[in-house]
Amino acid sequence: MKISDIIIKDRIRKEMGDLIPLEKSIHKLGLLHPIVVSENNELIAGQRRIEACKNLEWEEVPVTIINIQKLRDGEIDENQIRVNFTSDEQIAIADYVEKDIREENVKKMKLGKPSKDSLEGMPPNTTQKAIAEKTGISFDTLRKKKEIQEEAKTNPKFAKLYKSIDNLDSKDNTNSVYLKLSKLNRKRELVKKTKETQIILPKTITLYNKEFQTAPIEDNSVSLIFTDPPYHDEYLSLFGDLAKQAIRILKDGGSLLTFVGQTNIPEICDYMRNAGLEFHWPICVLHTGRASTMHSTKTMIEWKPILWFTKGKYQGDYVRDLVESKPPNKDEHDWAQSTEESDYYIKHLTIENEIVYDPFLGSGTFGVSAKKLKRQFIGCEVDKDHYDTARRVISNAT
Ligand SMILES: C[S@@+](CC[C@H](N)C(=O)[O-])C[C@H]1O[C@@H](n2cnc3c(N)ncnc32)[C@H](O)[C@@H]1O
Repeated sequence: MKISDIIIKDRIRKEMGDLIPLEKSIHKLGLLHPIVVSENNELIAGQRRIEACKNLEWEEVPVTIINIQKLRDGEIDENQIRVNFTSDEQIAIADYVEKDIREENVKKMKLGKPSKDSLEGMPPNTTQKAIAEKTGISFDTLRKKKEIQEEAKTNPKFAKLYKSIDNLDSKDNTNSVYLKLSKLNRKRELVKKTKETQIILPKTITLYNKEFQTAPIEDNSVSLIFTDPPYHDEYLSLFGDLAKQAIRILKDGGSLLTFVGQTNIPEICDYMRNAGLEFHWPICVLHTGRASTMHSTKTMIEWKPILWFTKGKYQGDYVRDLVESKPPNKDEHDWAQSTEESDYYIKHLTIENEIVYDPFLGSGTFGVSAKKLKRQFIGCEVDKDHYDTARRVISNAT
């Protein structure tokens, strides 16, 4: 039928989108699906195809004539009732496209024609673009899907996550699953790094891979507890256990300095007071990076509190109540702190050989400060991988 004879009435779709991939496809393969029109030549489905054919200077197109009462039902169903390619299928399409391009390049090279596209490593931009066009997703998303697919082959947890990417009702998407995969790979690297390191810890350093509540620490033996418990609400009761342990193991006049989340300060103070510790002072750790935002309280957070409690009266020297922090290295632990704060307070609140204790070691940051400053140090970490990391980090510290 002549394109000029097709009557296009008011359509639901107003935007034609990028027609170039469709034009290229029609140019290469022909029109895979005829245009659908009513007995009165009114368009039912295929306006984008018509526009692409016009751009290709076609004057006629093949048509299928059907008889439906409401033209719009045709337009809606044609666009809505379709099944998207699964991730597996998208990856298969990409492999096919890439193989095709490579084969053409090899042919060109054999004919002595130069090919701009390299045949090794990451596909060149032109290939990436072709893959994105054919799969309908960006090359970067496809690369992430491929990595997740690879992990899914041997890891049941990721097999489940990989499937969930294609489920439109799932909260998991490629980016969130890829983030989990990146974390897993980072953890693997840390474990490997630790295995390859010879760990040598001096006798002055004792690390436990256990819950701090069960650590065998002598009564009245510790001069300073410097620590950074997990902040989330579900961990709040840990502060109760910490308070009870602190009142038992701290020397008279000893201090507990704990990082806290701003939102739980009142409850944490209650735990500490109920156990018999005295509130001494709040300390401000000033962030140097960009402020983060807490939407629930509408605040831009530019500092971190450390709360200072004592067992009995503090008898030490004057110390500052503000420390300018440096951005911590999060390679070893997602929640790692910098050593600026621990260096300062361990130095000013204890002397050489006194015992500093961190019940929530993480990657061992505060043990690094204690070792540098020649204090005795006790640390606890419940997670085996973090514990191993802390052993390596403290062992390597000088
Ligand atoms: C906020 S992170 C500490 C980060 C650390 N300051 C650093 O710079 O790497 C808290 C750590 O406490 C550990 N943890 C949680 N509950 C624990 C418990 N009951 N006993 C010992 N460690 C625990 C977590 O596994 C986590 O590594």
